[in-house]
Amino acid sequence: MSHEIWSAVDDYICDRLLRTDSMLENTLRNTEEAGLPQISVSPCQGKLLQLLAQMKGARRILEIGTLGGYSSIWLARALPKDGLLITLEVIPAHAEIAKTNIAQAGLSSMVEIRVGNALETLPLLEKEGMAPFDFIFIDADKPGYPEYLEWSLRLSRPGSVIICDNVVRGGAVADPGNDDPKVVGVRHLFDLMAGNPRLSATAIQTVGSKGYDGFSLAIVAA
Ligand code: SAH
Ligand code: DHB
Ligand code: MG
Repeated sequence: MSHEIWSAVDDYICDRLLRTDSMLENTLRNTEEAGLPQISVSPCQGKLLQLLAQMKGARRILEIGTLGGYSSIWLARALPKDGLLITLEVIPAHAEIAKTNIAQAGLSSMVEIRVGNALETLPLLEKEGMAPFDFIFIDADKPGYPEYLEWSLRLSRPGSVIICDNVVRGGAVADPGNDDPKVVGVRHLFDLMAGNPRLSATAIQTVGSKGYDGFSLAIVAA
């Protein structure tokens, strides 16, 4: 089994189940042409996020890690007309590209991009009374995941859903010899989820056009 077949099957699934969408294709093209890293979620993963947020009936979504706004657009499409997605991004140039992409997708009225280190913008969300969020997607720097989880819990209510991207990392998460700070951050995230009685969680390994990785999924208990 190789990356080639994973990609071919991702293409097959996209082709059968995801409608061609010029807004999303433009977003990926703009993001790439602006020289941003090509680490947006894949189309099938974006659709998964949208479906999960719809299944949750989310009205308020928080995303940590915007990049070019590709996953933001998928998630915002799950919202009702009066819904809100707040997305946090530390690099102003990324936020600018995302702003353009989100505007082109016609979603500016329901998406707010907050520029700054998430560790500084998360406390502001709490102070401003923006919480609780129904659905939270964590996808910024991996060493920050443990703190993002703690903040997500503060900004949640019973029933809120918390999803984290990139928690398998080619299998490195289960390799005790790997002490890459990204892997260590993800392991700490697992420890926190395991030790928190307010959370019921699992993680799912994925293969596809983005290689071998995975998502964690958790729900906040009463
Ligand atoms: N969710 C996006 C991909 C996000 S990539 C998508 O799938 O389309 C991760 C992003 O997190 C990058 O743009 C990076 O600049 C941002 N980031 C990294 N550290 C951050 C921090 N401390 N606060 C906010 N954003 C951060
Ligand atoms: C990386 C970050 C991501 O969010 C992702 O989906 C893939 C890779 C990275 O930092 O390498
Ligand atoms: Mg990611």
